[in-house]
Amino acid sequence: MATTYETRDGAIMPRLGMGTWYMGERPGAREGEIEALRLGLDLGLTLIDTAEMYGDGKSEALVGEAIRGRRDEVFLVTKVLPHNASATGAIEACERSLRLLGTDRVDLFLLHWQGPHPLEETFAAFERLKADGKILRYGVSNFDAEDMAEGEAVAGGAGIADQVLYSLASRGAERRLIPWCAERGIAVMAYSPFYHGRMDVAAALEEVAGRHGVTPHAVAIAWTLRHENVVCIPKAANPDHIRANAAALDLNLTGEDLAALDAAYPAPTRDVPLDIL
Ligand SMILES: NC(=O)c1ccc[n+]([C@@H]2O[C@H](COP(=O)([O-])OP(=O)(O)OC[C@H]3O[C@@H](n4cnc5c(N)ncnc54)[C@H](OP(=O)(O)O)[C@@H]3O)[C@@H](O)[C@H]2O)c1
Repeated sequence: MATTYETRDGAIMPRLGMGTWYMGERPGAREGEIEALRLGLDLGLTLIDTAEMYGDGKSEALVGEAIRGRRDEVFLVTKVLPHNASATGAIEACERSLRLLGTDRVDLFLLHWQGPHPLEETFAAFERLKADGKILRYGVSNFDAEDMAEGEAVAGGAGIADQVLYSLASRGAERRLIPWCAERGIAVMAYSPFYHGRMDVAAALEEVAGRHGVTPHAVAIAWTLRHENVVCIPKAANPDHIRANAAALDLNLTGEDLAALDAAYPAPTRDVPLDIL
C-alpha cells in the first residue's frame, strides 16, 4: 500500500498518522503520551493531528513538546474552532496554536466544523495565513459532500483535506464523499477509526487479523486505507498500541478479507448523513 498521498496542491501527506484528542489533560500520563508520539514518529506515523479545542490547548502544548527537535519530520495538522474562524479570529487562533506547538508553521490548518462565520471569510483568513507562511495549506473537517461542494464554490476552494468520521462501524463517507474528494485530489482524513475506543470486534475482524498475524486494530486501519486518498489518524497513548497500529502500513488486505469485513460491517445501502463524534 502507498504510505503517502499526494494532494492537489502537491503536498505529500503520510497516510498513517496519530490523533491526540484527550492527550495532555492528565499530568500523570503526560510523559507516556509524549513517548508514545515519539515512538510513532520512529515507526513512520509522521502525521500528527491536534486542535485548539483539545484540552483548550493542552494537546497542542503536548504535541509541541513531543516534536521538539523533530519538527521537520512531522506533517503537523491543527484545527480552528468554528466560532474563532472569523477574519481576525482565525489569524489569532492560528498564532496561539503556533505558540503552543512551538513552531513557525503548520502543514495543514483545518476548520473544525462549519460554524457561524461565512466560508468566504474563513477561507480568506486562511489564504492570508498561507501568504504569511504560518500555514502551508488548509482544509476542513466534518464536511459532508454538499458542504464540500459549497466550499469548492468559494474562491480558492475548500482546501486539500476533509477530516471526517470513517470506520468499519461508520461507513457513510464511502458512498459519496470519499470518491468525490478522490476525483479532486482532496485527502479524506479518517478520524476515530476505532470509534473512539469503542470498536466492536466482530469474529470476522479477529479472523482477518489472525490470517495476517496483526491485531484487529491494524486491520481496521488498513481497511480505511484501501481508498488511495484516505489518511487515517488513530489515537494511541499505549506504546503497544502504537506498535500494533504501525503494522497497518505493511498490511495489504485481500479480496477475501474485504468480503468478510463487508459481511460483518455492512456498508449503508443508501446515502446517510455523515456521523460526527
Ligand atoms: N475532526 C474531528 O471532529 C475529530 C473528532 C474525533 C477525533 N478526531 C481526531 O481523530 C483522532 C482519533 O480518534 P479518537 O481519539 O476519537 O479515537 P480512536 O482513534 O478511534 O480510538 C482511540 C482509542 O483506541 C485505543 N487504541 C488505539 N490503538 C489501539 C490498539 N492497537 N489496540 C487497542 N486499543 C487501541 C486507544 O487507547 P490508548 O490511548 O490507551 O492507547 C484509545 O482508547 C483523535 O485523537 C483526533 O485527533 C477528530
